[in-house]
Amino acid sequence: MDRIRIVGGKTLNGVIPISGAKNAALPLMIASLLTDRTVTLENLPRLADVSQLVRILSNHGVDYSIDGRRQGEGSEAGQTVHMTAREIVDTTAPYELVSRMRASFWVIAPLLARCGEARVSLPGGCAIGTRPVDLLLMALERLGGQIEIEGGYAVAKAPKGLRGAEITFPKVTVGGTHVALMAASLAEGTTVLHNAAREPEIIDLANLLNTMGAKISGAGQSTVEITGVARLNGAKHHVLPDRIEAGTYAMAVAMTGGDVLLEGARAHDFQAALDVLVQSGARVEASDAGVRVSRNGGPILPVDVSTAPFPAFPTDLQAQFMALMTRAKGVSRITETIFENRFMHVQELARFGAHIRLDGDSAVVEGVPVLKGAPVMATDLRASASLVIAALAAEGETMIQRVYHLDRGFEALERKLSLCGAEVERISAGG
Ligand code: UD1
Repeated sequence: MDRIRIVGGKTLNGVIPISGAKNAALPLMIASLLTDRTVTLENLPRLADVSQLVRILSNHGVDYSIDGRRQGEGSEAGQTVHMTAREIVDTTAPYELVSRMRASFWVIAPLLARCGEARVSLPGGCAIGTRPVDLLLMALERLGGQIEIEGGYAVAKAPKGLRGAEITFPKVTVGGTHVALMAASLAEGTTVLHNAAREPEIIDLANLLNTMGAKISGAGQSTVEITGVARLNGAKHHVLPDRIEAGTYAMAVAMTGGDVLLEGARAHDFQAALDVLVQSGARVEASDAGVRVSRNGGPILPVDVSTAPFPAFPTDLQAQFMALMTRAKGVSRITETIFENRFMHVQELARFGAHIRLDGDSAVVEGVPVLKGAPVMATDLRASASLVIAALAAEGETMIQRVYHLDRGFEALERKLSLCGAEVERISAGG
């Protein structure tokens, strides 16, 4: 297995191009199952999760082709892929494929809506709490799907098709909202979602669906209305920039000091995180080119943070922010309200000499003046990014094991950081 070696202590300076968002790419790709026409996605990131989803979708009958790189195009430019599900050849998503990535469970919605049946393995993915799918299934049931759990699979049927309904989510769920948007687009009649997720990735999916001919209004707000259509067409869509990747690098710069333009990032997609960074002593400037983050000289100040659904501070940046707070001048409290077990990075951060105490759903971080490099292990996708941030500021060498977690969600991480002056290299399994 590959490892990443980082020698800390360098400031970051330069430009980091932000890739297409993983959490948008996955539902956008899954939406290609809704139509027999071609869906073209531009700016798709090169990530392990994207490749894994390609395997899953191919199994259902999606033909996939990828454009070659155009002359003069940098290696950071996203890919353009064409996906065509002319015919659904298999409505089962097997355990071997789904267990590695939770979002792949969402194929249940387009399969059920288009074919009237789906058999999808209950999901796996990052080990950050129980992460049930009850609300996703509730939404499909409200739309008329009959669902049974059999042998680890959700088996859904709608022989007469789905029909519009009022769906009230008792808890905000991104996956539940994606699933409801896709299924309701092909249901008969009107669906209204209450307490829907408002994440930018939800808006991105709704935009694609609308280009395909769906009738969705209000995406990005709590109440969303969808008028079903009989069939959807092909479309071309540009994947929005990854706010979590951008937020991760923003925190890295706040940690090491320096001055970096996060090229293509949209400040309003991660404003809550940027506001917290400003409180911690960083400078943030948004422009058409992206978001510029800098910290020169001043101390890192402690800030208390609580995660919550968009537009509040995202759980997917919690671990990275905790890494930053390990070197703050004082004590901060970080509260996780979305996933109950999302503190696995705490014990790894302690290997750098960080002082963190867990207190229920909160971590109390007492900043220390110096972190020291150490051998550490990536435990999940975003936790891995927190180890990179700590390592960039630590004295000496850090070796991060199990970097396949990082490859799931961060495109060309070593290259992007090296170009800004970090000492970071991948040591491949054979090397
Ligand atoms: C998505 C993101 C993930 C992010 C999370 C929260 C993708 C591919 N993944 O995950 O990176 O951390 O949103 O912003 O976009 N819940 C239930 N029952 C359900 C579904 C969810 O109780 O049926 C709970 C979850 O356990 C969690 C909360 O609702 O406590 C939010 O989860 P949800 O928004 O659904 O997360 P995902 O869509 O899986």
